[in-house]
Amino acid sequence: MINNLKYHIETYGCQMNVYDSELISGLLIKEGGVPTKDIEAADVVFLNTCSIREKAEETVFNRLNYLKSLKKKNPKMLLGLIGCMAQNLKNDLLESNPYVDIILGPDSYRRIPDIIRARESSSSHNVDTKLSKYEVYEDIFPSRNSGVNAWISISRGCDKFCTFCIVPFTRGRERSKSMDSIINEAKNAVKCGFVEITLLGQNVNSYRTSKGTFSDLLAQVANIKGLKRIRYTSPHPKDMDDELLKVMVKFDNICNSIHLPLQSGSDRILKRMNRTYNSSDFLALVHKIRRYIPSCSISTDIIVGFPGESNDDFLQTLKIVKEVQFDNAFMFKYSPRPGTKAVEYTDQISEELKQNRLEKLISLQKENSLRSNTHKIGKYFDVLIEKESKKSSNQWSGRTEGNTWVVFDKGSESIGDIVKIFIHDAKGVTLFGRHIQNKEVVA
Ligand code: 5AD
Ligand code: SF4
Repeated sequence: MINNLKYHIETYGCQMNVYDSELISGLLIKEGGVPTKDIEAADVVFLNTCSIREKAEETVFNRLNYLKSLKKKNPKMLLGLIGCMAQNLKNDLLESNPYVDIILGPDSYRRIPDIIRARESSSSHNVDTKLSKYEVYEDIFPSRNSGVNAWISISRGCDKFCTFCIVPFTRGRERSKSMDSIINEAKNAVKCGFVEITLLGQNVNSYRTSKGTFSDLLAQVANIKGLKRIRYTSPHPKDMDDELLKVMVKFDNICNSIHLPLQSGSDRILKRMNRTYNSSDFLALVHKIRRYIPSCSISTDIIVGFPGESNDDFLQTLKIVKEVQFDNAFMFKYSPRPGTKAVEYTDQISEELKQNRLEKLISLQKENSLRSNTHKIGKYFDVLIEKESKKSSNQWSGRTEGNTWVVFDKGSESIGDIVKIFIHDAKGVTLFGRHIQNKEVVA
């Protein structure tokens, strides 16, 4: 029975998983399910999992230990392991975790209500990890968590096959949702009070349907009345075209912010990673972005310790990081993922060396981020208020277009407002400022 069924979903990993959990929530609520934050009170618990690095899988295995004890107390509780780990490990998961009831890959979520119903008459495990060439969950409205931002997945899967990455195996072939359904979903989100939309795709800018490309879609979304901010993530450098930058220039509500994964600064390593660009291509793209949008903030992803990465290769990464001056960076130690091509490379790097390189890179980026933030002192920024500051209930926390957090004293503003803030301090990755009312002049 689904009616009044209490469900609890825990989400690990990327924003795509957050979106998928909201989709599943939408499916269950439609059938009479009721979300609960209290895991011990739930009839069914789902862990929506991530496989991108070994550590992500370890976190879920640790969590499963706790859930195993919960199931002992409440044997009727259904436990579902869904998402990338389910897809990646399939039946193997059952061998070590036989108390898991349901294992579903990312293309099988439509079956969830039926599976729950079927469990009433049968207690056999349900495993479905078939990947689909077509599933984009077009007709399902997600039940969104509250906040100012609504995630909208515009495509699923990835065809790029970077040699380090498990995603093409866990999420299957790339496919795009129809423009009409995306626009419909975006309008609906605005109607529900969301003022920011982030378009999601594993390679968001390779979106394409018979009705147009990613830049066409972005322009249509930007035209939706009442939508204050639009972001998108993550683009692939290879698919960044002039049209997209022109659309970003044209619409004020598209944030001047691009997350552009570099992965490595060494041409040799980029080639081995199958990234399909070299360091000069990447630099030329950064210059082009800054020509079109001088104030554009650029963030990135970087992997250190990819197989065969020599000290010189790593120095090339440091060099390009210095040159580009990314506003922010997510930096990772290479994690071998069974099934991918890079695992087979025989020149794996020791854990110690990876750690050493990661620390060097992080400390360089820390300087860059602080420099980028210090430059903002004495300037004005439009800040979208997102929540109360964690440190004080008398302060708001919001983000600039460029994705930097700003904290300032509360006045009569509300969550969801965009306000002009004068920045007077920068600490770590956070800026501190003051709300400037119209006509007020700062001496
Ligand atoms: N090891 C470390 N980092 C990885 N990423 C993807 N696969 C791996 C891996 N095997 C990183 C990439 C990607 C980000 C989402 O995760 O930098 O852009
Ligand atoms: Fe993974 Fe590369 Fe696809 Fe990104 S583009 S999801 S890193 S295979």
